[in-house]
Amino acid sequence: MTDYVTVSADAPLGRTGAIKLHGPEAFAGMRRAGALAAATLDHIVPHMVPGVTTAEIDRIVLDFIRAEGALPATLGYRGYTHASCISINHVVCHGIPGNKTLKAGDIVNVDVTPIVDGWHGDTSRMYLIGDVPLKARRLVEVTYECLMLGIGAARPGAHMGDVAHAIQRHAEGHRYGVVRDFCGHGVGRLFHDAPEVVHVGRPGTGPELRPGMIFTIEPMVNTGRPDVKLLDDGWTAVTRDRSLSAQFEHSVGITQDGCEVFTYSPAGLHKPPFHA
Ligand code: MF3
Ligand code: CO
Ligand code: CO
Repeated sequence: MTDYVTVSADAPLGRTGAIKLHGPEAFAGMRRAGALAAATLDHIVPHMVPGVTTAEIDRIVLDFIRAEGALPATLGYRGYTHASCISINHVVCHGIPGNKTLKAGDIVNVDVTPIVDGWHGDTSRMYLIGDVPLKARRLVEVTYECLMLGIGAARPGAHMGDVAHAIQRHAEGHRYGVVRDFCGHGVGRLFHDAPEVVHVGRPGTGPELRPGMIFTIEPMVNTGRPDVKLLDDGWTAVTRDRSLSAQFEHSVGITQDGCEVFTYSPAGLHKPPFHA
């Protein structure tokens, strides 16, 4: 049995395992945090070019978020010391910014989570660096479609398994592998909360979606097998078969009749290509 708990007033509530049902003030907070998260991903677009280091991108992210009076949730999170995760090509997620240089042909995920007035806006997008081969562009496009199909399945009365199934069916229809080792998550005043949002599953399974639930959907899709391996740095996850991996993430809230996406790009830069 799944536990749900209605969040009273704006009292912070710890990680109890129960799924929180949030009220209007949470939706208002998530709207602000989500807008800043998405604006951050808009802001870096002109900087995602060959020759720039991932540390430079991370610095631009940090400066932008701080200039808005917010802070990155990742800074100091479980020993992580950066404002973003930057994952290139066969890196699945949690790539650590450093002296690595972006090069033409790379596909790159940037994942940011600013905290605004205590609310976490968690979103990521793919960027294409210079001319990118068709195979990689296809992966990015289909992964974006997977996220949007998952969002399309998120409404009251549906189950988490419906969201997962929509994603898995589309990805596997293109003979891609959906990563099992990382999930979406409840989000709000906590960065990572119940429920787990898996990206593979069967219709009608898992917790029922109810108005007030707030969580991320963040499918990771590989051109090869779903399997990942963790590098010695303890963070960087890569595809075991070194195949390419892509990911998009939105933070969403279940409404009376569907779901609200908190992290849409204010500039309409939802997916690449971002420049002509
Ligand atoms: N933003 C990631 C997510 O989507 C989490 C990154 S945690 C970090 O859940 F420590 F690796 F930054
Ligand atoms: Co997330
Ligand atoms: Co994220």
